Amino acid sequence: MLAGLKEVLEQARANKQAIAAFNVPNLEMVRAAIQAAEEVNMPVILQHAEGHSSLVPLEEIGPIMLHYAKESKVPVVVHLDHGKSYDVLMKAMKLGFTSVMIDASDRPFDENVSRTKEIVKAAHSLGVSVEAELGHVFTSSLGGGEGRAPDDDQIGETDIYTDPRQAKEFVDATGVNCLAIAFGTVHGIYLKEPKLDLQRVKEIYQAVTIPLVMHGGSGVDAEDYQTAIANGIAKINYYTYANKAGATALKEYLKEDSQEYFLEECINRSTEALKEDYVRAMKIFGGK
Ligand code: 13P
Repeated sequence: MLAGLKEVLEQARANKQAIAAFNVPNLEMVRAAIQAAEEVNMPVILQHAEGHSSLVPLEEIGPIMLHYAKESKVPVVVHLDHGKSYDVLMKAMKLGFTSVMIDASDRPFDENVSRTKEIVKAAHSLGVSVEAELGHVFTSSLGGGEGRAPDDDQIGETDIYTDPRQAKEFVDATGVNCLAIAFGTVHGIYLKEPKLDLQRVKEIYQAVTIPLVMHGGSGVDAEDYQTAIANGIAKINYYTYANKAGATALKEYLKEDSQEYFLEECINRSTEALKEDYVRAMKIFGGK
């Protein structure tokens, strides 16, 4: 069934769990995410990043995401990820998305506040939840496709991490329902093992008391997920490593000694591998 983000994340906090938010820029990922959520019997967030419009436009994949959400046995939030432009954010709401992210994290603080406030006003009048980002989660040079790549001198710097006091000011001024924070994760493939500032997550949560969001959530150590969830993370954005799992299954299939290979078998093997990776992640996020 189609569900709202605010309600799903509040319940997740109460259960000391995080909800997986899978980027699903094709039908196989939509199907695999729904199958996984039904298998582990947990809510799930299907999300489409504005930056993935080159893979599939919002107008095409949005109605498919909504169809599968409505038919599902578990609560499914349909969310716009990294919405940058007012038009795209409004388009997602008009399609029936129950949640949107306004990402003005690359703008100065005051501009991030004013852009976010404008979207919160429009979204809340339609009953749509809003996520925003403060601090900045960079994108690795391998994979990802959301956020922006750091300049060489910015790699490893902590200035872009979210400041707890500023986070409180931001949340009070904007009225967002959840907040994406920067504490050491990166979109895409981790080129070095991530060192997460998990204490910062706790301090931000104590300051803002709304659910927090981990971006760059695939490829993180199981123990770090658990601590991040205990400290306030309730939504984990997960894409690159599932994408890689689907491709690895395909590579294995193409290594098999066969007279002929078929596209439909490529799709079946990749979808199954995606589903297995999603189930594994959701079990960790749900403490199962
Ligand atoms: P990964 O691709 O690193 O898993 O991050 C996904 C994400 O944060 C989407 O917003």
